[in-house]
Formats: sequence, structure tokens, C-alpha cells
Amino acid sequence: MPTRRWIEEAKRDPYRRRAREEGYRSRAAYKLEEAQRRFGLLKRGDIVVELGAWPGGIAQAASRIVGPEGLVVAVDVREFKPFEEENIIALQLDILEDNVVSEVLRVLGGKRADLLISDASPRFTGIRDVDVIRQYELTLRSYEIAGSLVKRNGSVMLKAFDCEEVMELAEKLRRDYAVVKRLVPQARRKTSSEFYFIAMGKRF
Ligand SMILES: C[S@@+](CC[C@H](N)C(=O)[O-])C[C@H]1O[C@@H](n2cnc3c(N)ncnc32)[C@H](O)[C@@H]1O
Repeated sequence: MPTRRWIEEAKRDPYRRRAREEGYRSRAAYKLEEAQRRFGLLKRGDIVVELGAWPGGIAQAASRIVGPEGLVVAVDVREFKPFEEENIIALQLDILEDNVVSEVLRVLGGKRADLLISDASPRFTGIRDVDVIRQYELTLRSYEIAGSLVKRNGSVMLKAFDCEEVMELAEKLRRDYAVVKRLVPQARRKTSSEFYFIAMGKRF
């Protein structure tokens, strides 16, 4: 349940208002827009896979960038409201299960993605150690899925929280990708300590 403070902050949140005006399902859309401005991750016609995509703000932002000749596969354990965008395919899947790679490759006809985004987050308990470990489990799993789903020279954008284990993940990313950066999005909530690994130029 969101707290009263969370609800008050959300009401005052300018990104939330802007998202509503611009037809986005969530303010998260602006995190991809910022990453795109800073790193140029996507071009028209690209294929994007997003893990932890419900309700769909980032998927909509990706859909606008890649255009009708591109494709976005939005994956979440929750059921999506149908998208009006014809280039978004929604899949209801748990990314901790084994069938994610095969299901996504099935809808992509065997093609791999130019960019994999993971915005997956657990349901937070408020107990920091528990939340950090659960977040890390989702981030690491997203990294593993990207190993199979992202094409050579492709990129990832993975949500993470700072913790000791994250340093190990940074090492893995540096081994697999030519360039690894960190993005602290301006549209992050004031109370959040999230950041995104942006890794570009997959080596295999
Ligand atoms: C911050 S929200 C995502 C916001 C979304 N990216 C957007 O642009 O609107 C985090 C999402 O991660 C999803 N999630 C958490 N664990 C998951 C799992 N094991 N498999 C798939 N999705 C998961 C949650 O259901 C939730 O919708």
C-alpha cells in the first residue's frame, strides 16, 4: 500500500502530470527519453525488449522512438491493459522463470534485440536489506536474459540499487560490453536510490 506521504508527493510530481498530458502510462517514460538524449541508444526500426514493463510508460516511449518499422516487446508478471500502439507486443511472464528467452524469441521470430531494458523492481517491504537483495536478483536475472536476447553490438539499460554485489555486476558488464556507464535519471523519485547501468556494444 502506498503511504500518505507517497501519495502527496505523487500529486505534486511534475513528471506525473506531464506523463498524463503526453499520453504516457507512467513517468518512467522520461527515464528512457533521457537515456536516449544522452547515449543515443535507439534508432528507427530497432527491436526493444523491456522486462518489468507494466504499466507501460517506457515501452510507449520506446515505441515512439523506433517508429512503426520497429518493435517493442513489453514483459511483466502483471497483466497489461491492451496497448493502442501497434508496434508493442505485451507478454505476461515472470522473468525469474525459465521460459522468458524462448517466449520472447518466439514472438520476435528468432531475431535478437538492439536494446534490452530492465525496469523490474520487487514489491518493496521497507526493510532495506531485503529490498536490495530482491532488486539485485531481478537485475542479475535481467543481465543473464540479455546475454541470450541482445544481438552483437546491442545495448542494455538495467535498473539497479547500490550494494556490494552491484560491483560484481559492473565487472560482468565490462567483460561483455565495450562501454559501461551509470545513469541517475532526473525523473527518479526523490526518495529513490535507483540508477541504471547503460552498457553498449555487446561483444558477442
Ligand atoms: C517500476 S515498475 C515498472 C514501470 C514500467 N517500466 C513503466 O515504464 O511503466 C516495476 C515492474 O517490475 C515488475 N516485476 C517485478 N518482478 C517481476 C518478475 N519477476 N517478472 C516480471 N516482472 C516483474 C512489477 O510487476 C512492476 O510492474
